Amino acid sequence: MDSIDAVWAALAQHRQEIESTNLNQLFAENAGRFDSFAMRLDNELLVDFSKNLVTHRTLELLRCGAELSGFKSKRASMLRGEKINITEKRAAMHTALRAPRDTMIEVDGRDVAGEIHEVQERVCAFAEAVRTGGAVGFCGKAFTDIVHIGIGGSVLGPAMIIEALVPYHHDSVRVRFVSNVDGAHLHDTLKGLDPGTTLFLIASKTFTTQETMLNATSARRWIVDGLGEDAVSSHFGALSTNLEAANAFGIPADRVFSFWNWVGGRYSLWSAVGLTVAIAIGAAGFRALLAGARRMDDHFASAPLDQNIPATLGLIGIWYRSVLRYSSHAVVPYDQRLSRFSAHLQQVDMESNGKSVRLDGTPVGVPTAGVLWGEAGTNVQHSFFQFLHQGTDVIPCDFLVAATPHENMVGHHDVLIAHCLAQSQALMTGRAVSDTKAMMVAAGAAEDEAAMLAPHRAFPGNRPSTTMVYRRLDPRTLGMLIALYEHKVFTQGVLWGVNSFDQWGVELGKELAGRLLGFIQGKEVEGMDASTRGLIREIRRFRGE
Ligand code: F6P
Repeated sequence: MDSIDAVWAALAQHRQEIESTNLNQLFAENAGRFDSFAMRLDNELLVDFSKNLVTHRTLELLRCGAELSGFKSKRASMLRGEKINITEKRAAMHTALRAPRDTMIEVDGRDVAGEIHEVQERVCAFAEAVRTGGAVGFCGKAFTDIVHIGIGGSVLGPAMIIEALVPYHHDSVRVRFVSNVDGAHLHDTLKGLDPGTTLFLIASKTFTTQETMLNATSARRWIVDGLGEDAVSSHFGALSTNLEAANAFGIPADRVFSFWNWVGGRYSLWSAVGLTVAIAIGAAGFRALLAGARRMDDHFASAPLDQNIPATLGLIGIWYRSVLRYSSHAVVPYDQRLSRFSAHLQQVDMESNGKSVRLDGTPVGVPTAGVLWGEAGTNVQHSFFQFLHQGTDVIPCDFLVAATPHENMVGHHDVLIAHCLAQSQALMTGRAVSDTKAMMVAAGAAEDEAAMLAPHRAFPGNRPSTTMVYRRLDPRTLGMLIALYEHKVFTQGVLWGVNSFDQWGVELGKELAGRLLGFIQGKEVEGMDASTRGLIREIRRFRGE
């Protein structure tokens, strides 16, 4: 094959082969299927791809597609800091944030490794000062509550990580997040807080995002009302690339932690935006998180395609989305503390690859990113799993589970693991109508009753999943898992030929909201569609205006 179009055609052809077999048969034909489809990273992570609707031929074709799409050179370009984000003329160098100190990292011909580590040192030192009471508020009191204000990539990663790493939290410094411009979010968060012991961290790459700036301004007013204007500089920190705007807000230079425009918002948790994480779990924990991601970066950069975990996850995802046309993908951690994991991944995945045109502006031609969704098991077994097992759509799932828990809660973890493995097994094996009927009759049901109920109680099976098992959910493991999905998304973007690093799709809504605000506040606006005009008129009527 000599072009990606030929690969798509071969994959479409191959689809018929896969549809003429099923997972039960693939396992029956190959006793070594688990061993040949499972991949390990060190002794820390196992990813079992064997329950996917793929054969070695499927993976061969997908890898051929990767080669023909320039996967290796594009991966090298990203890691070298070339401006692969061509629509914004920027590099996408989040991997540099977790690279070792002695790595040469060039952006625009300048070695930025020194700057990266200098900021990291400041982040870690300030985090430790907050944790130990060395950094204090205006009245000289230690901070007990950190309110991190941001939205999108400036909040999703830190919020997910902090929830995931509860066993590593500081005893007396609590962290909260405010993202929504809905005043209820800030209002409810501030309830019961003492301005004298509250530190606000304003996380915004641009320091212009309307929601974040409005929340920050209201938080500022709360501090001024409680402690006076002079207290602002002691109760705010900024995590941003826009140092001028942060200073203009009243945040002194020593409380501004900077990063660079080559860090995409959805990757910014590895930058100064991670300060909140460092406060919650300590500098050593934050460094372990970075080290875990670095381990995954090294693996992604060097492992051959047929042993490369993120690339394989990405390629199988492409097979499901672009060839088998499955509309969504569920990520289901059997790990309560990862209940925000899929919310973070939604931005990483759908903001990156929810695109319809290739780098050259032409249509992609195959479906790109589907809907990514999920929540923690076992809760989900009592909400959407009915749909996964018996609904009309096939939804591939990723299951994540730790081998060992942090707590010593007798019996809980074994039950959790049993449920996790049972779900992927049930999705795969299913239960035919005839077997279901025979089972019911054997249990004493009448023939006609069993015949009537069997179609309702049967399972189609042949529903694919990937299971990831890690030793324990610690900072290093979490870093590996996050980076694994980042590189999966990169791999998919390469095959689809899209720019995974811009997000122009969020702009139109922002522009229109700016115009509508005036109308909502009473100004006349020309040229508005009848529905929007009608809705605003009704809202104003409800408000008695
Ligand atoms: O949703 C669009 C977006 O630009 C994200 O990419 C980003 O994470 C978020 O808005 C917040 O932007 P900022 O960090 O500049 O406030």
